[in-house]
Amino acid sequence: MKIAFFDSGVGGLNVLYDALKLLPNEQYIYYADSINAPYGTKSNEEIKKLVFEAVDFLAHENIKALVVACNTATSVTVKALREKYSFPIIGMEPAIKPALKNNNNKKTLVCATEKTLKEEKLKALIQNLNGENKVVELSLQELVVYAENFEFNEPHILQYLKKCFVNIKWKEFDSLVLGCTHFYYFTKQLRGILPRHIRILDGNFGTVKHLKNSIIETDTNQKTKIEFFISGEKAASSHFEKYFDFIKKNQ
Ligand code: DGL
Repeated sequence: MKIAFFDSGVGGLNVLYDALKLLPNEQYIYYADSINAPYGTKSNEEIKKLVFEAVDFLAHENIKALVVACNTATSVTVKALREKYSFPIIGMEPAIKPALKNNNNKKTLVCATEKTLKEEKLKALIQNLNGENKVVELSLQELVVYAENFEFNEPHILQYLKKCFVNIKWKEFDSLVLGCTHFYYFTKQLRGILPRHIRILDGNFGTVKHLKNSIIETDTNQKTKIEFFISGEKAASSHFEKYFDFIKKNQ
């Protein structure tokens, strides 16, 4: 049986990349809803409709687990998905918990999509961690489209990031949380403009560990196979492999 990964686009490849290291003998199916990306600016109804369409499709693919490798889709749909489907569903959680640990009494900047920042799920997480006065939220929504276009190093991206950070007093912060799987591609650019003392955290490996604990692993030593789909249509692996190459080069 296969493990399915779903994202509004190419962001979830960052999570799949870690899964390939931890669970190398599994068979994967990666579904990018790139035709409908970005999700972060859509209404909850639109997001629910798109996610259920994709997961209905994946449910017919003999899967043993689903990773919703998208913070936005997780925020809006994970509860409803778990009510409908019986296979394990693993969602994304912004790495606020590790960020608030050993934080030298400083704040954490949580960067996510417009939608994730508005949703109850994030608010509840911050509240549970008593983080109301320690967490500042910031949308970096435009990065989603840049990543979809395979644009990472262009000067306008740096300008965009600098503009988004203009009011942030970095001395008061100790970490930045990547609360959107597309943002991971910009880690290098962020490192270049953030002060050295800022830790950059993501929830990718935590999600993959959770996946490992949720499945019965295959006991054969087979070669990894990944099938790719874009919005319901089989897609060429070359489109996705260039992102894997980029991740590998920038690690
Ligand atoms: N990868 C999605 C996330 O983690 C991007 C959302 C979007 O399409 O706007 O939130």
